[in-house]
Amino acid sequence: MSQLKTKHLLGIKNLTPEEIQLIFETADNFKDVLNRPIKKVPSLRDVTVANVFFENSTRTRLSFELAEKRLSADVINFSSASSSVKKGETLLDTVNNILAMKVDMVVMRHSSPGAPNFLAKHIDANIINAGDGTHEHPTQALLDTFSIREKLGDVAGKKVVIVGDILHSRVALSNIFALQKLGAEVMVCGPATLLPKYIGDLGVKVELDIRKALEWCDVANVLRIQLERQKMRYFPSLREYSLYYGINKQLLQSLNKEIVIMHPGPINRGVEITSDVADSEHSIILDQVENGVAVRMAVLYLLAGKKA
Ligand code: CP
Repeated sequence: MSQLKTKHLLGIKNLTPEEIQLIFETADNFKDVLNRPIKKVPSLRDVTVANVFFENSTRTRLSFELAEKRLSADVINFSSASSSVKKGETLLDTVNNILAMKVDMVVMRHSSPGAPNFLAKHIDANIINAGDGTHEHPTQALLDTFSIREKLGDVAGKKVVIVGDILHSRVALSNIFALQKLGAEVMVCGPATLLPKYIGDLGVKVELDIRKALEWCDVANVLRIQLERQKMRYFPSLREYSLYYGINKQLLQSLNKEIVIMHPGPINRGVEITSDVADSEHSIILDQVENGVAVRMAVLYLLAGKKA
């Protein structure tokens, strides 16, 4: 396979395993480029990319911007907090105005699930979903699985547990799809109140006991508690959550094996993970961030100029 089937990246759900492998192999090449003294290639010269963020972001926005600049694209950045959205402009009007400035690709983060799908139906530019509400975060899942492949040699056959706030997490859903397509076994672990009712339909194992989950897995991907999306109390207090589901050094040392620790960020140190785990030799959290640039370069490169 030498190209992706569609002109947008809206989610992992509709990607084939072969397409994910193509993204990984392209990212391998770009990772080599990023380790050279001159980290820039002319692949996206004359392509203009708009990063349109209706929700806060540090890693994803910076990583996309850097990926675009490493590919020599022209880049414009839009943040809803300082825009005319505050004056009542609609999503479609906002994006159409950006496109009138001859933009070719739109990288969008939005709090509404399906917002990038809506946009893809109405405009010609290539759309990349940079996280839509509680739905999908495809490039995060691609960089997460790419990092597992880098650390453990392959994703197939590995046991991966996703820990924490599964209910509100777009990272969890995209990771479940990506891991399953690549042949990993997937488990979710968290309080029952933070597991979605449809979890049984996704073909994953469910475990409420964190120790049993960690004993089972090769990799634990630890998620943040998304308090900003929680409209009610799902557990008594953060202290109690930390006591029952927090990953700390003592817990890891009591296991009969070593496991790889991941986190998509941002980390709430002392809540879902302690500093002595996040910063330990078992953690690949900063490798995930580093790999994000190469993976996003691969996605941009493979989608640029695609018309259908
Ligand atoms: N992982 C992630 O999406 O982080 P940001 O919200 O900082 O982009």
